[in-house]
Amino acid sequence: MSREQSLAEIFHEGTKYRDGGAFHAPDLAAQASPYKDFHSEQPIDLVPDLNFENFPLGPSSHQQPRDSSLLPPIVGRLSRLLFYTCGATGVRQSPEGVQLFRAAPSAGALYPTETYVVPGPGSGLEEGLYDYAVHRHQLVPVFEGELFEEIRQHCFSTPAFAKADALLILTGIYRRSSWRYHDRAYRRILLDTGHVLGNLRLAAESEGWRVAPTSAFEDGPLAQLLFLDPKEEGVLVVAPLVPETEVDAGGALLGPMRRSPISRGPISTGESLLHAVHRGSEIDRDDPVHSTGTLPWPPAEEEELRAPIPLGKTFDGLAGAFPETVVSRRSTRAFTGGVISRDALAKILDYGHRAASPGPVRLLQAPERIATHLVVQRITGLEPGVYRYLPDEHEILMVRPGDFHREMGHCALGQDLAANAAAVVVHTADLASAIDTYGDRAYRYLHLDAGVIGQYLNLAAARLGVGVSGIGGFFDDEVNTLLNLPATHAVLYLTVLGEPAPSHGAD
Ligand SMILES: Cc1cc2nc3c(=O)[nH]c(=O)nc-3n(C[C@H](O)[C@H](O)[C@H](O)COP(=O)(O)O)c2cc1C
Repeated sequence: MSREQSLAEIFHEGTKYRDGGAFHAPDLAAQASPYKDFHSEQPIDLVPDLNFENFPLGPSSHQQPRDSSLLPPIVGRLSRLLFYTCGATGVRQSPEGVQLFRAAPSAGALYPTETYVVPGPGSGLEEGLYDYAVHRHQLVPVFEGELFEEIRQHCFSTPAFAKADALLILTGIYRRSSWRYHDRAYRRILLDTGHVLGNLRLAAESEGWRVAPTSAFEDGPLAQLLFLDPKEEGVLVVAPLVPETEVDAGGALLGPMRRSPISRGPISTGESLLHAVHRGSEIDRDDPVHSTGTLPWPPAEEEELRAPIPLGKTFDGLAGAFPETVVSRRSTRAFTGGVISRDALAKILDYGHRAASPGPVRLLQAPERIATHLVVQRITGLEPGVYRYLPDEHEILMVRPGDFHREMGHCALGQDLAANAAAVVVHTADLASAIDTYGDRAYRYLHLDAGVIGQYLNLAAARLGVGVSGIGGFFDDEVNTLLNLPATHAVLYLTVLGEPAPSHGAD
C-alpha cells in the first residue's frame, strides 16, 4: 500500500533531472562567494604550523611573524587538520581571477561547506566560535562564549563530547550552490560535506585525534546558538575531536542514532523545496531514538543472481600517505576510454567501503541503508555489465551483462566522463524504507554517507594513479532503469573511475 509522500520524498521527486525536462539556467545574480570573510582584529594565522614550506596564499609574508609561544599547542594541530580536510590545495588563474581548489572536491567547485571550530574548555584557546578562512588559512574569531557545553546538549550529550579537545562544525551555505543548481543543490551540498568529513577523519588521525561525528542534533536551538540565518545556512555535521588515547581506553563515543519525524508538509507558501527538506528533516529533543535493525542486502529477490565473483585484492595502503595524497588529488576531467585493471578496481572498492566504516568510531550515519552498484565498462578480466557490490563479502554479483557505456554517458546528462569511464560506482538507497527508520532525516544521512564513501573512493583511486570524479548530475529514473532497480530506490551519487587523459589527469 503506498503511503503519502514525506517532504524528503517530495523533494527527491521534485529535484530529479528528467530527459527532455526543463533546463534551469544558473541564477547569476544570486551567485555567492565561497568565503564568509568575517572581520577580526585578531585572526589566528595558521600558516606557520603547516608541515611544509611556502604556502602560496598565506598572510605570513606580509605580516609580523607570529609569536608561537603565546598560542596553545592545539593551534598547530588544528592548522594541519583544517588544511588537509578542506584547505586550499590548488590555485588556478582564470580570466575571472584566481580560483582556489580545495582538499575535498566540490560539485561545480562551489564549496558550499563552511567549517567552524569550537575549542573545548581545556584547549587553551579562548572559548567561542571560530571560522576557518580557507583562502588565508586562518582561524577567525566570530564571537566569544562558552558554547561547548550548550552544543553538547543540543547533540544529545553523546559521550564523545566529554572527552573532546574541540568540535568542528560543518554547515551548508545554500546559495553558494543553489544559484547554479537550484533546489537540487541540497543534494550536492550534503555530498560535498560528506567528502569533507571523509578527509576530516583521516586528517584527524594524522594529528592523534579520532572524530566522532554526528549529524543528529536539535537543529533549531543549535542554529540559534550559532546565530545562523536558517534561510542561508544549516548545520550538517558536528564532529568532536577526541584524543586517540581516550578512544583506545574503550567505551562508546556516540549515542544511538536519532530519527526526525516523517514530515507530511505542506510546503509553506514561498518556501523552496531546498528549505522545506532541511526544515522537514529537523530533529527535536523529544523525537525518539532510532531502534536498530538492518536491512538484509541483497534483498531476497536477488538471490537468483549469478554466482558471486570474489574481488580478492584489498587495500590498506593510504593511512600514512593521506597528506600527500589529498594535497595532490584532483578530479579527472577526461578519460581516454582505456581500461583499468580488475585489481585496481577491487582495491578502490575495498578501501572506499571498508575503510569508511570500521573501528571504534562511527563515521557513516546509516551505512546499512546504502547499496552499491557497479557498471563495468572496461575492466580487464571482468565482463562488461551491471553488477551489485557487496562490501562485507568484497564480492560482485552480475545483474545484467552488456556494454552500457553509451547509456551510462546519457544517464550522466551526456557527460563524456561517464561514457569513457572504465567503471562507474553508483550508490543508491531504498528511500521509503530509510525514511521509515530515520524519518526525513534519512535524506541527510544517506547523502552525507554517500559523500564520505565517495571521498574514500577518490583517495584510493588517486593513490593508485586511477582517474576519478564524482558525478552529481544524472537523470535519476534512467539510472534506475539501467541498474534494474525498483523506482523506490533513490540514486544518491555516481563515482566514475578510469584512465586519465594525459592533458587532464591532474592539473
Ligand atoms: C558532489 C560532487 C558532484 C560532482 N559532480 C560532477 C559532475 O557531474 N561532473 C563533473 O565533471 N565533475 C563533478 N564533480 C567534480 C568537481 O567538478 C570537482 O570536484 C571540482 O571542480 C573541484 O576540483 P577538484 O576535485 O579537482 O579539486 C563533482 C564533485 C562532487 C564532490
